[in-house]
Amino acid sequence: MAGFGLLTGCGSPHMSALDPKGPVGETQLDLINLSTGIMTLVVIVVAAIYIYVVIKYRERPGDDKDEIPEQVAGSKKLEILWTTVPIILLIILAVPTISTTFRGTDREPEPGTLRINATGYQYWFGFEYPDYQVSTANEVHIPTGRKVEFLLAAHDVVHSFWVPSLGGKQDMNPGRTERLILQADEPGLYEGECAELCGASHATMRFRVIAHPPAEFEKWIASRKQPKSKPKTEQQKQGHKLIAQNCIGCHAIQGAGYDILGRTGPELTGFSHRTRVAGALDNNRENLKKWLVNPQKIKPGNRMPGFDHLDDKQLDAMVEYLQTLK
Ligand code: CUA
Repeated sequence: MAGFGLLTGCGSPHMSALDPKGPVGETQLDLINLSTGIMTLVVIVVAAIYIYVVIKYRERPGDDKDEIPEQVAGSKKLEILWTTVPIILLIILAVPTISTTFRGTDREPEPGTLRINATGYQYWFGFEYPDYQVSTANEVHIPTGRKVEFLLAAHDVVHSFWVPSLGGKQDMNPGRTERLILQADEPGLYEGECAELCGASHATMRFRVIAHPPAEFEKWIASRKQPKSKPKTEQQKQGHKLIAQNCIGCHAIQGAGYDILGRTGPELTGFSHRTRVAGALDNNRENLKKWLVNPQKIKPGNRMPGFDHLDDKQLDAMVEYLQTLK
């Protein structure tokens, strides 16, 4: 079971395909159970026949070693049996697999579905809410009890979008859009990750789905439509200057006047509310500073240059300014 657990993403809380938290994940678990059941049945039947034959036709003391056993040149009955049984088993597997796969990906979503564009970059996830003109990175907020249609694309290489306890996975390909519909029934934090080897930092290309009750989700959207950034202290003001000089070429910060510049790095709007730094470390001042000094150590191969040429005071100022992004 442990090996099976690894395959289905078990290990951390709310990150198991065996403990689904929404209807899509539940349907996928039904498929996992059905295919595991059929495979187990096949293994048991084949093993039983094997053991029976080995015991029944074993060499016994006193056997005539020169005697040739009865030779079978072909059996129509047997051939029909071992052709039709696998065909029937494959049909039982294929019908629900195909219908479930297409239900989640190819159909037009029902009215009321929330649309989110998700884009994979080396090594982070960007999210846009086209109906609200809101965007974010590495943490996607959704309402509970409502279908969410993720329109998946990739900026550079092939990535894959997977939230084990909600459903997936679905590849994110450059140059085309894939569709994946998910739903969370309970509020909570669901871990997601890239499930396609995409480079040196594939293993740390993670994201989080944060599911809120519908009213709280609307509040989150409203707060994101009016992001704030008010540096008050001298230190925060110095940090603001440094961020403006060093970061906004790649990172957009709405509410701070840098909403259209940077789009090659994750958006930093509302950064102080994120639970993680770069999707990889807990969001606290110490980790943020570590990230600013040497991002290549934490996520090798990512595009961010380090700021090890800045002194400690300057780095602290940048960290303090980022705390003002609400
Ligand atoms: Cu992106 Cu692996």
